[in-house]
Parts: sequence; C-alpha cells; structure tokens
Amino acid sequence: MKLWGGRFSKNTDKEVNDFHSSIRFDQRMYRQDITGSIAHARMLGKCGIIDIKDSEDIIKALREILIEIEDGKLEFMIDAEDIHMNVETMLIAKIGDTGKRLHTGRSRNDQVALDIRMYLKDEICEIKSMLISLENSLIKLAKDNLDTIMPGYTHLQKAQPITLAHHLMAYFEMFKRDITRLDDTYKRTNVMPLGSGALAGTTYPLDRQMVADELGFDSITLNSIDGVSDRDFVIELAADLSICMMHLSRFCEELILWNTNEFSFIEMDDSCSTGSSIMPQKKNPDVAELIRGKSGRVYGDLMSILTTMKGIALAYNKDMQEDKECIFDAVDTIKLCLPVFEKMICTMKVNKDRMYKGAGQGFTNATDAADYLVKKGMPFREAHEVIGKMVLYAINNEKALAEFTMEEFKACSEIIEDDIYDAISLETCVNDRNIIGAPAKEAVMYSIDKGEEFLNSCK
Ligand code: ARG
Repeated sequence: MKLWGGRFSKNTDKEVNDFHSSIRFDQRMYRQDITGSIAHARMLGKCGIIDIKDSEDIIKALREILIEIEDGKLEFMIDAEDIHMNVETMLIAKIGDTGKRLHTGRSRNDQVALDIRMYLKDEICEIKSMLISLENSLIKLAKDNLDTIMPGYTHLQKAQPITLAHHLMAYFEMFKRDITRLDDTYKRTNVMPLGSGALAGTTYPLDRQMVADELGFDSITLNSIDGVSDRDFVIELAADLSICMMHLSRFCEELILWNTNEFSFIEMDDSCSTGSSIMPQKKNPDVAELIRGKSGRVYGDLMSILTTMKGIALAYNKDMQEDKECIFDAVDTIKLCLPVFEKMICTMKVNKDRMYKGAGQGFTNATDAADYLVKKGMPFREAHEVIGKMVLYAINNEKALAEFTMEEFKACSEIIEDDIYDAISLETCVNDRNIIGAPAKEAVMYSIDKGEEFLNSCK
C-alpha cells in the first residue's frame, strides 16, 4: 500500500503509477534525503516531539540504509514513487512502527525543497572546483605565451596585434565571472526550507535552526509558502551554467577555426581528436564541436525550468517535479565538458610562427601607423585618412606597411621618418599598449597576478 493510501479505495493505475514516479531520476538524491531525515529525526527527539529513543533508532536505521544503498544491497522501488517515500518505506521495513514517526511535522514538499538545495550545493562546489582547475591551466598557458604575438580580430577580420596570453586571459575573466556567479547562487541555495511543511508550516514546535545548523545551512526560509514553492535557485544555477557553456562554446568555436588548415594557429592533439570512417586524411576537432553543441542542451534545460515555473500558482504543484531532470542534465553536462575541455587546451600545440605571420598580414599595425602621425603632430582624423590611403596603396602593391621603402612612406606623408619602422613593428604595437587590461607583456602579467590572487582567494 502507498504511504498516502488511507483515503483511497482503489489502487493507482499501473500506467499512472509509472507516469508520476520520479525515483528513476531523484534516486541520485538518496544521500541528501537520508542526511536531511537524520537531522529532522534528531531535532524531533531533542524537541520532545517524538521519544528520544525512537529518534535514536530512526537515526541508526537511516545510517544503515545509507550504507546498504551504497553497497547495492537495497534497491529502489518504482512503486514507492520518489526518493522520499522509498527511504521512508525502507525505514519502516527495517524498524516497523517507530519508522512511521519520522515524517512528523514534515511534508514531501519541504523535504524535496531541502534535498534539492543540499544536492545542488554539493554540485555547485564541484563545478566551481573544475572551473578553478581550468583557470589554473589557462594561467599556465598564458604564461607560456606572453610573447606569442597573434592577430586580434573584430568582425572576424584582422584588427590589431595582441598576444595569445592576452586572448587566453579574456577567457580567464569570463570563467572568473562564472565562478563568482556560482558563489552568488550558492548563497541563495544555502537557505534551509524544512519546517515549511506542505505550505503552511506546522503546529509542532520544530527547532528549524537546529536542523539548519546540523546540515550546514546559513539561514532558514522565512515564509513557508515560498519555502516549498521557490525554485529560483534551480533557475539561477541553470542560467549560470548556460552562461558558462556559452563561454566554453565561444572558445571552442575559436579553437575549431584556429585548428583549420587555413588558420593553422593550433593543432589539436591526436588524443583529443577523432578520425573519419571514409576520409583517411581527416583529424577532426570533435571534442570542441561536441562541447559547442552541448551548450544547446544546457540552454534547453534553462528554458524548460523557466517555462515550467511560470504558470504555477502558489504553493507546491507536481509540475515542480520537472525541475530535476533539467537541472541534473545541466549539471551532468557541464561536469562532462569542463575536464575534457581543459585536457584539450592543455594538449593542443600552439603554432607560434603561424600566429606571428598572421599578425603581420592584414595591416594590423594601421592604427599604430596613424598614432605615429598623431605623435608627430597630425590630428587623428587626418592621420586616419593618410593611413587609409597608405593601406590602399599597400593592397594594390601587395605589400605590408612594414615593407614600404622610405620613399613610399614620404609619398604618403612628409612627416614620416626612419623611426616609423620601429613604431609599427608588431612588438611595438603590442608592448606600447601598456595600460591595465591591454596586451603589453607587462599589462598581461599584471592581469595574471590579479588572476592568481583571485584563485588563491577561492581556496
Ligand atoms: N517527487 C516530488 C517532487 O519531486 C516530491 C514532492 C511530492 N509532493 C507531493 N505533494 N506530491 O517534487
């Protein structure tokens, strides 16, 4: 019989039973469910709501159940609907009537809210540590490439020279924001809802703070209706993960481009590439493509949870059971992607020569040539015009600005002198951009220092 079977005179239809059973996916919260129940039982005993002896027996049995589940000795039952009723059924099977006292002053509505918060708190910590590991790898790669000059792009057209370190540190900043977003979501997840009951609290004098303290929550929810119907933290986490996937996806897109024969800025390691079943020459950047692709499913998870929640009247409705598969999928997906992504960037080969050559083409030093004229006294708008014409001449004559003879320079502007060659060299273009956040080696080293400070503060 169902734990709630009292008022029913018929069994649930088999198909309906399978339809609303969530044990298939919420069983992964067994540890949180049991730990939460142990805290609840201890509090019930301490507050004199149940006998202290009963409370102790319940706690002991729950601990055994946890071990038995972990050892594969206990199996979940579809019939017991969800993880909460599975554990309670196991408890009653073990200690009989005493087990029936556990659910005093509690509803599955506040129980599931508790479990999912506990579960996601752990996941947030795990994802955060994966991001920290990725950030450390990015810093290491950046340090190896402080002098690796490459073209920077806007509109995917060559724009100005930068270094690979500078480019990598852009991603460092993105992932840093992802980490701080997770920290922020963690704060709002770290609120203890048990005691909200079905929606209107309970008549038992529960010590909610005691449960929160035992389970490591910062505070307790202050409205029982909100306590059972809030899934903002689930949505926030799905949004955080979507943004993080977007960052990974942009990075992957660039790596896929850089790995092409046309760019050849990098070469993916064999260990992180795959071949073609028909074209013998192929080595494809499938890892990057798959991560880019998986960003789509995480966005889908976010949209799904948002949409599920939008029409739900207060307080709990069964629709909310749909939050779990989405957030679990989002969490699983990012946890699959992050370590593989890190491995991929740590093993790829950087073709420094190709990058340098690429930076020398496409007039990436044109801004610096204009700035040269400005420093000699010409107004910037005029300098822009002069260099624009110079670029047109260069295109027609198939040469780079640095390949101009002095006569050619003079023909563009009389004020140009010999020092132009140094002023428009790629090294000068990069290293003269030496303000905070810019690509000069010194500036990037400063950002790396700040980045390391941030990572140390994460420990
Ligand atoms: N399995 C349910 C869920 O995940 C637990 C809460 C069920 N509550 C209820 N009143 N049916 O949301």
